[in-house]
Amino acid sequence: MTGDSPDLPIGIDFGGTGIKGAPVDLATGEFAQERVRVKTPDRSTPENVAEVLAELVGQFGESSAPIGITVPGVVRHGVVSSAANIDPAWIGTDADRLFTRALGRDVHVVNDADAAGLAEVTFGAAKGRGGLVILTTLGTGIGSALLYDGVLVPNSELGHLEIDGHDAESRAANSARESEELSMEKWAHRLTTYYRTVERLFSPDLFVVGGGISKRADEFLPLLDIDTEIVPAQLRNQAGVVGAALYATT
Ligand code: BGC
Repeated sequence: MTGDSPDLPIGIDFGGTGIKGAPVDLATGEFAQERVRVKTPDRSTPENVAEVLAELVGQFGESSAPIGITVPGVVRHGVVSSAANIDPAWIGTDADRLFTRALGRDVHVVNDADAAGLAEVTFGAAKGRGGLVILTTLGTGIGSALLYDGVLVPNSELGHLEIDGHDAESRAANSARESEELSMEKWAHRLTTYYRTVERLFSPDLFVVGGGISKRADEFLPLLDIDTEIVPAQLRNQAGVVGAALYATT
C-alpha cells in the first residue's frame, strides 16, 4: 500500500473472475493507492459479493468517502433489474442499500459499461468530444454507454439489440469470437453488422471500443466497414474502477 487516501472515493469493478478496487484521484483519473484484487465468489450472489467487498474495502483504511461499484446489468436508482451474465439473484436487489449497509459507507452502484463511458469521456478516448459518443465493451457480453455532450444516458443496453433474429451479444461479443474460434476477419464481419445497425439507429459521432480485447484493436478495427469514426478505449482495465469512483461523486 502506498498510504491511506481517506478523502478520495473508491471505485470498484465487479467482474466475472475478479473484483478490483482502488481510491481514485478525480483530478487526474489516477489510482491514489495500489489496486486491490480479490477473487469473485464462485456463486456471485449479492450477499456473497457484499462479504468480499467488505474485505477489499477494509484494506484501504478508515474513510467516509463514497464508494462506486460497477454491476454488469441494468441499475435504476440502485436497484439491479437485469442479469444476462450474472447470478439471477441480482434481479430486484437494491444493491445501493445492501452494499451501503455491508460497508457502512455511502455506496452507489452503476452499470459497468456506463462506468467505462464516464471514465473515457472524462479522462480517455472521448475526452472533449461533443455530440453523441457510444462506447461499447466487447467482453462476455456487449455493454454500451450513450454520452451526449459528455452527459450519460444510463442503461442503454445496446448489446441486446435483436439483429437477424439473434441477441446481438450472442453473435458479436468477444466471448462468441472465442467460443466459436472465429478468425478476426469473421468476427469483424459480425462486428460490422452490429455497428452498422447501431449507426442506423443512433447516427453517433464517435464509437469507443472497450473491453479486454480492445488492447488488440489494431487487429480488428481496421477490418470494420462502417462510416462512423471508431477508436479503442484508452483507460483499458482501469476504466471500470475510475468510472465507478466518478459515478459515486456525481
Ligand atoms: C448486460 C449489460 C452489461 C454488459 C457488459 C450485458 O449482457 O446486459 O448490462 O453492461 O453485458 O457486461
